[in-house]
Amino acid sequence: MKRFVIYPGSFDPLTNGHVNIINRATKCFDEVVIAVAVNSNKNSILDIDERIRTIKEVFKKNKKIKVDRFEGLLVHYAKKKRIKTILRGMRTVQDFEYELQMARSNNILDPEIETIFMVSDANYSHISSSLIKDIIKLGGVAKAFIPKIVENELKKKLKKKV
Ligand code: PNS
Repeated sequence: MKRFVIYPGSFDPLTNGHVNIINRATKCFDEVVIAVAVNSNKNSILDIDERIRTIKEVFKKNKKIKVDRFEGLLVHYAKKKRIKTILRGMRTVQDFEYELQMARSNNILDPEIETIFMVSDANYSHISSSLIKDIIKLGGVAKAFIPKIVENELKKKLKKKV
């Protein structure tokens, strides 16, 4: 039986930390579905189509990785896809409270859904999308934290140093 997992997130933008988790997940699962949340957050740096396009481009050589979007509740999306496992990355103890709340809520909403966690590699545990967003918005250079394809997309969009 094939093992599927959903790796959900905002991915605004995709970071090297996400890439590391996704690549490691392909060693544990036959297919990893990166589910990009469609949120109308005005604070977004990349819109949903830009995020999907860049993520697809980053992983285009890996047939085990699929990229999709979802709107509404994650458990509804998981049911629609018939996937019962959700993967989340855990960087530091600060992530724990939020992840615990989400995992428990999702399991109450749909008891068939299990969330599993992969601890981030120490090289990436300091990276977060919101930190990168801040760096870029405040005119800093974030290229050490993001894949080259994402850097190019951000440059195109913001027409400034990324
Ligand atoms: O990358 P993020 O922002 O930490 O991802 C959070 C995300 C998108 C996975 C989470 O907010 C989510 O699942 N949103 C969909 C709405 C939902 O199901 N909310 C209830 C979760 S308890």
